[in-house]
Amino acid sequence: MTKIVILTGAGISAESGIETFRAEDGLWAKHRVEDVVTPEGYQRDPKRVLDFYNERRAQAASVEPNAAHFALARLEAEHDGEVVVITQNVDDLHERGGTQALYHMHGALSGALCAVCHHRWPAPMQMAIEDPCPSCETPATRPDIVWFGEMPYEMDTLFDHLTQADIFVAIGTSGNVYPAAGFVAEARKAGAHTIEFNLEKSAVGNQFAEHRIGPASQTVTDWVNNILAT
Ligand code: APR
Repeated sequence: MTKIVILTGAGISAESGIETFRAEDGLWAKHRVEDVVTPEGYQRDPKRVLDFYNERRAQAASVEPNAAHFALARLEAEHDGEVVVITQNVDDLHERGGTQALYHMHGALSGALCAVCHHRWPAPMQMAIEDPCPSCETPATRPDIVWFGEMPYEMDTLFDHLTQADIFVAIGTSGNVYPAAGFVAEARKAGAHTIEFNLEKSAVGNQFAEHRIGPASQTVTDWVNNILAT
């Protein structure tokens, strides 16, 4: 019963119509990272940050999961071993594609967090800085998203999964951001077979035993069909 651990990045949502971060026309070509995904940026101009995430929340709600999301859900439902998805993405396309065992290590657009009392609640579609925290009533709301310099969520649990993986797969991530970019090394240390799905080799591509080059909607679907046929 092989355990499969899957890490996904922005590339798995690209064919659904959500731009990635580091493509020429990606998010980091239009926004300064230090302004919209750092605690300092939020302190400096919280409205700019909330508006950035309001746009992304609206965009995520306007697109659909693609064949790669659905293929991973089918793998989880039909594979006889455990399948776990760890996503760096903050959209809800894996949930809407049917994946159950899912970790949002960088948080999710669907969550709101109070910057003062750390209360969490479901985010409204549009967040405004004057919205009071439902618990402490301070107007200090922020998206429940992990910014640069903050600790990704559930790291102990994620490392447990990595050490138990028989197959580790990375889909649509450029391998530029740690700790996610270090997951392949952890999985290899644990003896996992490693496969990278991408349009090109990522920054950590040389650490993978196998590469499936092409659009994830095609390559992931083909891979899942093969796995389930054997
Ligand atoms: N199929 C497969 N891979 C694709 C596709 C596709 N259709 N389209 C793009 N890709 C690949 C790109 O080649 C690239 O390697 O997806 C990757 C996207 O890389 P990034 O834009 O860097 O996104 P990601 O790796 O998820 O970024 C990681 O950085 O900015 C932070 O917190 C943010 O979670 C994000 C983290």
